[in-house]
Amino acid sequence: MAFLYIFFLLLSLSTATTDVASCSCGFLDRTGAIWTDAIIAYGNETDKLPSESLVTEDFQHPYEKNWNARYRAGARSSNLGHNKSTAPGWNGSAWVLNLDRPTKDHTVVGTSLRTVRRDIQYGTFEAVLGPPKPGVGGSILAMRLDYSESQTVNLNVMNADDPDDAWTSFMLYGDWRGTRSKGVNFTDFGNDTYKFGGSPWGFVPYRIDWTASKANFFIGDALARSVSPRHVSKPWPTTPSTLYFRHTSIGDMYTSEGPPPNGSHAHVGLVRAFFNSSLMTWADHDSFDKRCHLARPCLVSDISLRGSSPYGHGATREFKPPSINYKKRWPAIFVASISLAISILLLGHALFKRGPWNKTDESTRTPSQDLSTTPSMIFSEGDGLTYAAQGLGIGTPGQVTPGNSTPSRVHSETAWLENGTSAQTLFDNSRPVTRPGSSALQVPLPPFLSYDSRRSSEITVVNEKKSAKESVDQINEKKQPEVAVKEMETKPTQGANPPIAVPKQRVDYLAGLVALASVLVTLIHFALTFLPATEIPYTHTHYQSEMWALKIVTPYLLTFSWIGPFFTSSTRFLVGNYLKSGNLKNIAEKTVGRTPRLIIPCAAIAALEYFCMQVGAIKWLEYLPSVTWSTWPYTASYVTFGHFLNEIIELMYIIPNAVPQITFNYCIGVLWTIPVQLQNSWLSLLAVMVIREIKTPWKRMGYYAFCIANHWYALSWGSFFWVGLLIADLDITYKWKTWLNNRPVVYYVFITFCTLLAAGSPSIDLVSQWKPWNFNTLESGVHPHQRTGNLIRDTYDYGYPAYYQPRLTALTFSIGFHLLVELSPLVQKFFSNCLLMWLFPHILTLYLIHGLVFWSLGAVICVHLAAHGVPYWANMLVVAICTYTVIFACLPILTPVIETLGKSITTQIWQNASEKPLPRRKTLYPFGPELFKDAESNDTEVRPKGEDVERNDAETGRAL
Ligand SMILES: *[C@@H]1O[C@H](CO)[C@@H](O)[C@H](O)[C@H]1NC(C)=O
Ligand SMILES: *[C@@H]1O[C@H](CO)[C@@H](O)[C@H](O)[C@H]1NC(C)=O
Ligand SMILES: *[C@@H]1O[C@H](CO)[C@@H](O)[C@H](O)[C@H]1NC(C)=O
Ligand SMILES: *[C@@H]1O[C@H](CO)[C@@H](O)[C@H](O)[C@H]1NC(C)=O
Repeated sequence: MAFLYIFFLLLSLSTATTDVASCSCGFLDRTGAIWTDAIIAYGNETDKLPSESLVTEDFQHPYEKNWNARYRAGARSSNLGHNKSTAPGWNGSAWVLNLDRPTKDHTVVGTSLRTVRRDIQYGTFEAVLGPPKPGVGGSILAMRLDYSESQTVNLNVMNADDPDDAWTSFMLYGDWRGTRSKGVNFTDFGNDTYKFGGSPWGFVPYRIDWTASKANFFIGDALARSVSPRHVSKPWPTTPSTLYFRHTSIGDMYTSEGPPPNGSHAHVGLVRAFFNSSLMTWADHDSFDKRCHLARPCLVSDISLRGSSPYGHGATREFKPPSINYKKRWPAIFVASISLAISILLLGHALFKRGPWNKTDESTRTPSQDLSTTPSMIFSEGDGLTYAAQGLGIGTPGQVTPGNSTPSRVHSETAWLENGTSAQTLFDNSRPVTRPGSSALQVPLPPFLSYDSRRSSEITVVNEKKSAKESVDQINEKKQPEVAVKEMETKPTQGANPPIAVPKQRVDYLAGLVALASVLVTLIHFALTFLPATEIPYTHTHYQSEMWALKIVTPYLLTFSWIGPFFTSSTRFLVGNYLKSGNLKNIAEKTVGRTPRLIIPCAAIAALEYFCMQVGAIKWLEYLPSVTWSTWPYTASYVTFGHFLNEIIELMYIIPNAVPQITFNYCIGVLWTIPVQLQNSWLSLLAVMVIREIKTPWKRMGYYAFCIANHWYALSWGSFFWVGLLIADLDITYKWKTWLNNRPVVYYVFITFCTLLAAGSPSIDLVSQWKPWNFNTLESGVHPHQRTGNLIRDTYDYGYPAYYQPRLTALTFSIGFHLLVELSPLVQKFFSNCLLMWLFPHILTLYLIHGLVFWSLGAVICVHLAAHGVPYWANMLVVAICTYTVIFACLPILTPVIETLGKSITTQIWQNASEKPLPRRKTLYPFGPELFKDAESNDTEVRPKGEDVERNDAETGRAL
């Protein structure tokens, strides 16, 4: 009986339909174009897929190319079903594309159909698509003409988690362009533009017209989007493609949302594709035209068409781009190799001569560089840590080693010493300044000052402003470690002297603190990139242990409170000298040098990152979220060079508590601290001048309290800088360490208080991991809201404070930690360890470069290991080891560059600004102008003599 029924059904169909195979002269569409081939299949007529035209696929993506995909798509043939559908817009049954519930491993297995033919090149493609039910969870029902990610024409029907967000996007080049302007909301389907009569939640006919000059997308018959090659920046899709229908979900929270927690299903009602084959040659087209010159083609609009056009075996093979044979350009290769060889030779030479193992080069540095061998990250310019450390600028341990010097070196030093102001610049004013000829007293001279020191270790020195006696007092008072004067007499020819042991620097530990803080900041960024669950609550974990890390380790070690010590300690390096000496010249120097010192290295490294991005170094970053489940990393190239300049200038002028735009281009948005540093440098420099004039201690302290409280209330990072200033003041002016050390009871009580502050502040964050309330949110609520003037608590901005907003816990944490480090010898010992000391000069480099390494190398390794099925913990181990090795290996190479760019240029700027220039030397020195004149007179050619000499003089004059 059933057999008979099917027989009659088939009979009735065969009478009512036309097989497309009989349309040998193609199909005429609405626009007048004729397409040669067709594939037509109706879900209400065949429960099985027509195997000659459509097949299902089985795959599992190891990763997705999408900045926001936290799940990976897969497909299984068994997920294709066939069922009667009750959804509006369709009668009878349809193909069902099922989507499984997501796995713990973040894979979502759905369904994928594709045409057997893969030679589709232009055409008109219709389908009736039914999205999953509203409210089941977001997924994507896609219809795509796809060759590769760069050559895709597709539309995505997305039901979204919230039915109000549901929309259909019409795309070129792939899936993720989050803007709604490239799609239509379900709620707009029925509006006057699209006039779609049915429900968008039922079956909706869609159409894509793809030609060489246009891609049009339709809802029903209404044009929804039209793109032409003129409007796109990338090459137009022209490659032979395959037509796909897919039901997948990747959990992109900005477009499709999802995935559906309990799975879902979507429908495909019918497929009608009319297209050209890429396998037809020009000759084939000619013969087609000749043959069909007079014949009538079938019509695309004829709904009785069924079946598929015949095709050859070649049509089922995927298109392979012909391999391009690059012509070897020998001249270019030749020139490049020569340049490369010369560069390597020069670099090798420089490395060999000036490598860190080669101690002799210490003396060949310019004095100004020596002044600050220990560069300090974002705090001081021209004025190294050791400077502050020793109070006298006698140099770092490594420096107290005079080496051999070349004649030119002696010459330059002489020139430099001849000029009083010059020496003065490089030395603090308050300090003894060498000036040959003026004799007052004999003090040991820093080695880099004393080219004479190999003859005599002592040199005449005067103090320019203060009396010589005062100088001596100062030196005695500071109890300058006995920099072994005798050592300085080492013969210059004797290279590589062992460095003289100098007692520990006084503020080494501060350097150690900052170095540790910067390492921890890189760790935070590592965690945010690769292990988001340890940093961001309510994200998916790879392992349960990440939850515990979030609750226990993160509040202490991986908290952004570690930014605080950068700020508090930077003040000390800025204002230390002025506090000691009261010389405004210090302030002037800092003011001039501050901006270039910070901005030039940032601009240079940003340009480097820009370059790396453009050559594709961070290509794999876009694949990373599907493996790490962290959507935090994101970066995009600058639009134009003008934007780049704009962003750099913004770094200098942006008012704190905003995100500079460069954060969105720079690998890991660390640069937001640069404006904070810069703006608050002016604050610190101004503040220290005021403070020094307030002589009564209680008034001074009252002023501190007033300013710190106000900055805190105004949500300004200035509070950190005021605290730094206060601590420096207490130490330098009031010598409170001595005072405290003489009173053990007070000391221990105070130390306990500091420990409580340092440990207690993060513990408050810890509490909020377990309890519903959050102290930081509450605290941010009591500040005034900038736009309305109300309490933040009463505005719509109330919530967890953004990362660029100061928090009270960060402030108290920084105070506690900074004080502990200042006062406790035990903590000092820890922070003075040699590893942190080694790292300290490199922290600016570390700070600027770590993001690029994580996001380029780290992403490549992580994505590929994950694709090979390596367990995630092992993957992380490998990524961490590789990236940190590369970062630390980069430091010694990049730091000198950054130092040159930042510090040397700054020093030069200040020198040029503040010094009287040296008397000019004639260009021809040591030869006189006669050289030219004689040459002219020897000239055999007879010329009017006077004229000649005149011109010569003029030229020499210009040269001079
Ligand atoms: C299948 O659906 C199409 C479009 O709605 C319709 O034209 C066709 O008649 C249907 N076929 C059968 C057998 O019902
Ligand atoms: C078809 O629909 C019925 C009832 O709606 C359902 O129970 C069945 O699982 C569906 N089959 C497929 C293959 O989707
Ligand atoms: C479409 O929906 C989204 C999300 O609900 C909304 O933000 C957007 O403004 C809507 N677009 C239009 C054109 O209505
Ligand atoms: C219909 O909705 C689209 C947005 O999806 C909008 O651009 C268009 O102007 C709307 N048309 C009318 C007539 O409101």
